[in-house]
Amino acid sequence: MVSYTKHSKINATQALRWLIDMGADEITSDTPINRFVMSPQNNNPKIKDTATRIVETIDGSVSRPAPVGKNQIAPAEGAHDAATGASAVTDIDELRAVVEQFEGCALKFTATTTVFSDGNPSADLMIIGEAPGVDEDKCGRPFVGASGNLLDKILHSINLDRSKDCYITNVLFWRPPGNRSPTNSEIAACLPFVWRHIELKNPKVIILLGGTATKTILNTQEGIMRLRGKWSNIRLANRKRQIPCMPTFHPSFLLRQPNQKREAWHDFRAVKTKLLEYY
Ligand code: URA
Repeated sequence: MVSYTKHSKINATQALRWLIDMGADEITSDTPINRFVMSPQNNNPKIKDTATRIVETIDGSVSRPAPVGKNQIAPAEGAHDAATGASAVTDIDELRAVVEQFEGCALKFTATTTVFSDGNPSADLMIIGEAPGVDEDKCGRPFVGASGNLLDKILHSINLDRSKDCYITNVLFWRPPGNRSPTNSEIAACLPFVWRHIELKNPKVIILLGGTATKTILNTQEGIMRLRGKWSNIRLANRKRQIPCMPTFHPSFLLRQPNQKREAWHDFRAVKTKLLEYY
């Protein structure tokens, strides 16, 4: 009986982990929603919705943060200071310096280093992950641990070199203790910097790695299982051009669920095709 209880607990934890990995990481409603009925363009569940979404609500101007709706990222005290700091900088080096000085996100005080970015600031491709892990926290560069190795391999498979062809950053610049998921207010505190980062970098294409980056940048509550592989465009306030974003699985998820690598590879190939359109 004792061992049954122990196994039940392990199985329950594994089941929860599996649900989170599959993108079911929140309760959005007490009643089920039939989304096929809701969408007049797609009432046939066999037809995949391939239309490009345009995220009009996202506003890159740091003085006017994206609107906060139900279940969306709440404003944090630090966000105001971040907005002020972000609006004052004119290039990526200045932004890095302001982020390193910033004290409006509590994660800064438990982290060892600020992890700002890696790669080539002139690259066409910007990759945005979630937050530094233990390895990144030690050396101050994003995606250097096991998930970074996998990311490098995936990039290599589409003939992209991390240091030459990509510019890599995260939604958070400091490691959450114990690698826990970041809170909404921690994300909100960093968000003005993230928008300014995108604005200054002005990439041709963005890859969003995992649910947190996708939800944050696309300002959505939809899970990564639903959004991966579908292009969304973001339009920054002071730029006419839209930036195509491809959400895909986070490499650390792929390390736990290697059977999903095929889907991710498909997404990265779509990114490569999109980049080639610019040449
Ligand atoms: N996971 C992330 O999302 N970012 C990193 O930099 C490392 C692991």
